[in-house]
Amino acid sequence: MKCSTSILVLLFIFLFVTSVHASQTSDTKLRSVAGQNSDSNEILTYIIHLTKPEGKTLLGYKELESWHKSFLPNMTLDSGEPRLVYSYFEVMTGFAARLTTDEVEAMQHMDGFLHAELNVQRELETTYTPQYLGLSDTSTGIWSTESNMGEGIIIGVIDSGIPPNHSSFSDNQMPAKPVNWNGICNFTNFSCNNKIIGGATFANGIKMNSPPVDTGGHGTHVASIAAGNFVKNAMVVGKFNYTASGMAPRAHLAIYKTNFTRADSLKSYDQAMTDGVNIINYSISADPTDNFYNDEAALSGYKATEKGISVSVSAGNRGNPKSLSHSAPWLTVVGASWPDRRLAAAVRLGNSDEFIGETGFYQPTQFNSSIFRPIVYPGANNKRETLGCWNGSLNNIDVKDKIVLCWAGNDNIGKGRVVLAAGGAAMILMGPIKNTRNDKHVLPVLHVNSNDANKILNYYNSPGGSPPNARIVFKGQVSGRRPAPTIAPTSSRGPSQTNGGILKPDVIAPGYEILAASIVRGGPFNNYFKFESGTSMASPHVAGVMALIKKKHPTWSQAAIQSAIITTADDVDLAGNRFVDMKNWKPSNIFARGAGHINPPKAMDPGLVYDRNFSDYIGYMCGLKYKPSLIQLITGRRVNCTTVMNIKASQLNYPSIMVTLSSNSPNETIMRTVTNVGKANSVYTPKIVHPANASLILSTNRLQFSAINQQLSFNVTITIVPPAPVKGTISEGKLEWVSISNSHVVRSPIAIVFD
Ligand SMILES: *[C@@H]1O[C@H](CO)[C@@H](O)[C@H](O)[C@H]1NC(C)=O
Ligand SMILES: *[C@@H]1O[C@H](CO)[C@@H](O)[C@H](O)[C@H]1NC(C)=O
Ligand SMILES: *[C@@H]1O[C@H](CO)[C@@H](O)[C@H](O)[C@H]1NC(C)=O
Ligand SMILES: *[C@@H]1O[C@H](CO)[C@@H](O)[C@H](O)[C@H]1NC(C)=O
Ligand SMILES: *[C@@H]1O[C@H](CO)[C@@H](O)[C@H](O)[C@H]1NC(C)=O
Ligand SMILES: *[C@@H]1O[C@H](CO)[C@@H](O)[C@H](O)[C@H]1NC(C)=O
Ligand SMILES: *[C@@H]1O[C@H](CO)[C@@H](O)[C@H](O)[C@H]1NC(C)=O
Ligand SMILES: *[C@@H]1O[C@H](CO)[C@@H](O)[C@H](O)[C@H]1NC(C)=O
Ligand SMILES: *[C@@H]1O[C@H](CO)[C@@H](O)[C@H](O)[C@H]1NC(C)=O
Ligand SMILES: *[C@@H]1O[C@H](CO)[C@@H](O)[C@H](O)[C@H]1NC(C)=O
Ligand SMILES: *[C@@H]1O[C@H](CO)[C@@H](O)[C@H](O)[C@H]1NC(C)=O
Ligand SMILES: *[C@@H]1O[C@H](CO)[C@@H](O)[C@H](O)[C@H]1NC(C)=O
Repeated sequence: MKCSTSILVLLFIFLFVTSVHASQTSDTKLRSVAGQNSDSNEILTYIIHLTKPEGKTLLGYKELESWHKSFLPNMTLDSGEPRLVYSYFEVMTGFAARLTTDEVEAMQHMDGFLHAELNVQRELETTYTPQYLGLSDTSTGIWSTESNMGEGIIIGVIDSGIPPNHSSFSDNQMPAKPVNWNGICNFTNFSCNNKIIGGATFANGIKMNSPPVDTGGHGTHVASIAAGNFVKNAMVVGKFNYTASGMAPRAHLAIYKTNFTRADSLKSYDQAMTDGVNIINYSISADPTDNFYNDEAALSGYKATEKGISVSVSAGNRGNPKSLSHSAPWLTVVGASWPDRRLAAAVRLGNSDEFIGETGFYQPTQFNSSIFRPIVYPGANNKRETLGCWNGSLNNIDVKDKIVLCWAGNDNIGKGRVVLAAGGAAMILMGPIKNTRNDKHVLPVLHVNSNDANKILNYYNSPGGSPPNARIVFKGQVSGRRPAPTIAPTSSRGPSQTNGGILKPDVIAPGYEILAASIVRGGPFNNYFKFESGTSMASPHVAGVMALIKKKHPTWSQAAIQSAIITTADDVDLAGNRFVDMKNWKPSNIFARGAGHINPPKAMDPGLVYDRNFSDYIGYMCGLKYKPSLIQLITGRRVNCTTVMNIKASQLNYPSIMVTLSSNSPNETIMRTVTNVGKANSVYTPKIVHPANASLILSTNRLQFSAINQQLSFNVTITIVPPAPVKGTISEGKLEWVSISNSHVVRSPIAIVFD
């Protein structure tokens, strides 16, 4: 059922495309699809896909551009604005232009016209609320030369730009930029360096000479996660001592600032491909129902991937089943996890019990941690006001120089103000801990969970002997939070609504409360770092890992790099349990975590990879029953599906396995081919975790290789084990190929949907 639903969605879109072509009725169709008021004179930005004339080879950019212009009624609008917004050279055959629906309608009769779509505004994949904290006075930036990770690889970041002089983007210890790099550099007063080797802005085609400088903070964060240089002691606040760096600190960055419309993002990809980047990091949203040609990441990613560029994209921050976007198989889709690190402090009670709590970014410098202070619990009288330390509630309570216990709520910073105003020395917040890492508290604050809170209250009520007291020790950033990593509540989940049944997200990566470079209002503070959350923070981690793999294995295909990341991901958390989903603090399902958490060191050396010929994607899109014109939008070439071997989604040589079984089709045989990228002579045997209600049978129990790059195929037959499972249930398993020497475990997650 699930499978046929996706096909229906595809057919619907195909009908839409057909109707655009059917000139008699297309005017109303175009407008209704565009979702605009029916003013046919309204000027909107359209993206126009074209078919290259048969036999004619278009040479330079100039020639392409004049061909694009030949479709326009004239070159300028009454307002003086140029009609042509962008000419696309690499990413698709076509252009973006300002047109009325009537003009688009007229264009449909012109030779070479393929399809028109309205430009749409996208959102950034982040959940952070802007809260700024300057650290310029206490920070010192000390550059380190500890790593040469990702050296020479170019990561293109399509986002909101960067502040070029942030410490994270210094080119200290950076190798020279590649000799053949000739990319655009359109900053003002910054002529690019060996870290930031390029940059340009694409905002509606008009303000192209505005520099790609970040004003919101998102792009800065993303770029520094992917390839920020080392900043030692990035923030030295209290005992906080942290070396900041991106995943690939020696990689170069090319910055493409977009105004987040479809046309802008397509042009950013176009420029990135023209410039010659190796990896693209893209964290901009799409609708989960967007088809591959509607989703600019999928559309551009196809062309980028064909050129050998790896693309990492964010799954989205919608948090619900089937809400994931960018689910094309050529993209690596990343969900967000909360790592095990936290900014912590310990409260040590008079009876020697100790509890670790969260403190957030703000760690006091003047607080004497060795002094025991009395504890006071205003809420002992069980009034709402005092339980929550509301303004006015502490008037008749002696909190002077004491540690005050307050239940957490909406305005925890405000509670701190109240406690400080009443003379309190510190506050212990009790109850559920939310994303408050950037909170700028006005006094020392420690936040403990409800469990620990009740233990502290037990001590408070019966301290035994002396009055209750405690001291708070600020510990800076510590690891060891458990369970960890956990899946961020807002990370978008599969299954994909549009890819025909390929398991997505591919992996999860740190994307919750991630500390990285940022900007601050009232700055510039070039050592400013802050916490942000979102799958936007997760995808640059993967982009960075892609750069590392690319550096080590320059000839690998996008599919091989993706396979390395997927088959080496950790499928259990640090304690060996299934990853906990922060939505309900229960074990997650496979559509929240995909293959699991990225494990970069292992991804460098995966042993075997599931590679694909790029042309498989055409057979796959034919298998999805895409109309040939639709496939042409994506591939840029005419396709005849009757002459191409159609490939079912489950049969694409993907590193994960997903099938839909029902009483009518109780089994499916999945074919897979692995390529040996480990030692020439190596032998692998299988280890299977059978999914509930199903059994797996392999065609072979041994893969014996005698050469590097040797390929071996095997089949997996997955069969329902009666009684037939309830429709709509999901079952999870895994297939591991383990090398005899045990140096490699090549893991494929298995998802079965019972229909
Ligand atoms: C271009 O065409 C539009 C619409 O037909 C018209 O309003 C405008 O005046 C034309 N511009 C020029 C420079 O002719
Ligand atoms: C660039 O530098 C010049 C000279 O120092 C200065 O006048 C100008 O304001 C600067 N522009 C920007 C955008 O910072
Ligand atoms: C960028 O997008 C915003 C919001 O849609 C819009 O207000 C602004 O005019 C755009 N900027 C440019 C240069 O197109
Ligand atoms: C780069 O800057 C130049 C000069 O300001 C401008 O003409 C050009 O349009 C800009 N190009 C891009 C892609 O931003
Ligand atoms: C930070 O940590 C490093 C190494 O762990 C140490 O050498 C350095 O002295 C520390 N700096 C501060 C300010 O604590
Ligand atoms: C780029 O990085 C940002 C944040 O690090 C991420 O959200 C986005 O998905 C990445 N985009 C690409 C194309 O890798
Ligand atoms: C903190 O308090 C202890 C105990 O009163 C005292 O010995 C120590 O000098 C104080 N430290 C600072 C930095 O004031
Ligand atoms: C408490 O409320 C009063 C009156 O609204 C206000 O003046 C005061 O600033 C508040 N105090 C704190 C600490 O928020
Ligand atoms: C960074 O550059 C901006 C202009 O782009 C400038 O205003 C600011 O002073 C610079 N900051 C530092 C720390 O150099
Ligand atoms: C596709 O190929 C088949 C078989 O060669 C042929 O019959 C059919 O006409 C072709 N379709 C198109 C649109 O070229
Ligand atoms: C698969 O299911 C079909 C019925 O749909 C049955 O005929 C066939 O024997 C099954 N194959 C296996 C290997 O179970
Ligand atoms: C896998 O199954 C296909 C079709 O069922 C068959 O043609 C192929 O030979 C099998 N491959 C292996 C390695 O068993």
